[in-house]
Amino acid sequence: MCGIVGYTGTRQAYPVILKGLKRLEYRGYDSSGVALLKDGKLNVYKKKGKVADLEETMIGKVLDAHVGIGHTRWATHGEPSDRNAHPHSSASGKLAMIHNGIIENYALIKQELLNKGYTFTSDTDTEVLLNFIEDIQKNNNSTLEEALRIALKRVSGAYCILLIEQDNPDTIIAARKGSPLVIGIGKGEHFLASDASPIIEYTKEVVYVNDYELAIVKPDELILKNLGNEKITPYITKLDMELAAIEKGGYDHFMLKEIFEQPSTIFDCLRGRLDAKEGTIRMSGIDHNIDQLMNANRIMILACGTSWHAGLAAEYIIEELCRIPVEVEYASEFRYRNPIVNKGDVIIAISQSGETADTLVALEKAKENGAFIFGVVNAVGSSIARISNAGAYTHAGPEIGVASTKAFTGQLAVLMMMALSIAKHKGTVSHERYHSLLLELEEVPEKINAILKNASALKVIAEKYKGASDFLFLGRGYNFPIALEGALKLKEISYIHAEGYPAAEMKHGPIALVDENLPVVFIATKDAYHEKIVSNMQEIKARKGKIISIITEGDTTSTELSNDYFAIPPADELIAPILTVIPLQLLSYYVGTAKGVDVDKPRNLAKSVTVE
Ligand code: AGP
Ligand code: GLU
Repeated sequence: MCGIVGYTGTRQAYPVILKGLKRLEYRGYDSSGVALLKDGKLNVYKKKGKVADLEETMIGKVLDAHVGIGHTRWATHGEPSDRNAHPHSSASGKLAMIHNGIIENYALIKQELLNKGYTFTSDTDTEVLLNFIEDIQKNNNSTLEEALRIALKRVSGAYCILLIEQDNPDTIIAARKGSPLVIGIGKGEHFLASDASPIIEYTKEVVYVNDYELAIVKPDELILKNLGNEKITPYITKLDMELAAIEKGGYDHFMLKEIFEQPSTIFDCLRGRLDAKEGTIRMSGIDHNIDQLMNANRIMILACGTSWHAGLAAEYIIEELCRIPVEVEYASEFRYRNPIVNKGDVIIAISQSGETADTLVALEKAKENGAFIFGVVNAVGSSIARISNAGAYTHAGPEIGVASTKAFTGQLAVLMMMALSIAKHKGTVSHERYHSLLLELEEVPEKINAILKNASALKVIAEKYKGASDFLFLGRGYNFPIALEGALKLKEISYIHAEGYPAAEMKHGPIALVDENLPVVFIATKDAYHEKIVSNMQEIKARKGKIISIITEGDTTSTELSNDYFAIPPADELIAPILTVIPLQLLSYYVGTAKGVDVDKPRNLAKSVTVE
């Protein structure tokens, strides 16, 4: 993962880089560092821990420079430590490099370099690649750019790298394959970063660098080339993002801000697309490909983590409304199996970041087999959005908190509209049901608002159960994926062990865990399975488990069985998951903060998982 930033221009580079690193910290926070280049002198500073730790150590250092690169790390090769922190310096000390990704054949290259007498100061794959580049440069007496091209032809894996060179005072050389890189174009200056957030306040004109491209970046010049040394015309895009969207805006954490943004993010997601009065859904990605979608022999959904949970919910919804068989697969499994993908299959890729390596590579594999890819992506212009044949953005805006919240409900809303659209064209949904679901979807922002008004009730519940060492989350049917999501959220930001299960499956094993110390969260809103789930609550109560339930307003049966409950407004069972997840997001947020966890940056995680 890692976040990378580079600057070349007339401003002081360090403040631009530092601010950028803080914005990219969601991508990793094991260590951070900067390399600053001034008058042929390279100064490299790095520190284990968060960017704030680096900032402290920089007091009193030589910071005057107009060219520099910076990195915030999510360790893959070598423990989080000062010496493994980036930037790395080459053996001669003339080059400094930062890297996001994994060089898979680094061991082989390292051995070759060791045989030549090289020594290494870190355990990283990055330092190996850097010295490999320098070795080629020395042996061939070539420029850094040529050496880099030769080196990249030999490496396998994923990378986005930024390189600076002592003898090349205003130039940053960048290359990418599999890890993202955006270049911001200013007046007499350029900004480089893993995503647009460090760039947005300086310029809205950006170039998204593609795989196997090299960028030679000077204050007044941006040259893009492929690995064959042919020039490529940079394609300039305008950023559609405001600075306020990536700032906390008065909330204690990004996660809380993002939970509370959901009425407006869902509204934005539906706006201009869904018109309940007219009974229409207009989504160009779907409308232009409706034949392909409605005639699919099968739909396969590929995603990871929370996005996979949205996929599971979509399986239930699409099969119900469209009568098309759906399979949901972890992208990381799909890519290493020998999956059967046929020409008439449609793949739906779901991703917040659009950069998840497992999903991206799985899609490349599916594409090779001739599948049609429909992307449900949040980050505009991201790699998954670009590899897709068609798609629909979730329009949730930048999601910074590591735990996904508003992107998830956006995914559910888009997938719901997609299912309704296909079902209408196929004739697999009745006129009445179609119209009532449209109306219900339109009411979602308002219902989320009503839930958020009672957020403090969840804080009280969180206080009561924060000491538990395990949690069980149970749901049936459309709410089963929400049970999985509730458990994942709690694990991520409170470090409490939690498991999600289909409520009925609980008696086939997990029930053995139930005693008076185990909180069991039931997602038990009024739906076709309600009586069944009430029986499951009885089974837990009989074994003295503590029941916390998410129920529909007015449901007195469940309140009697529950130690604690939270009621949500009534909703159709297909729409309910977009609502039932909100109290679970809040519950985990309040448990996490009560336990003192840095919920925006929980340990060991990173927002955008761009490594395998
Ligand atoms: C969500 O809370 C997680 N941090 C994680 O599971 C995430 O959903 C997963 O890594 C997939 O990310 P993506 O949606 O950006 O592809
Ligand atoms: N492989 C490099 C390291 O371990 C970069 C890691 C990353 O991109 O997350 O330092």
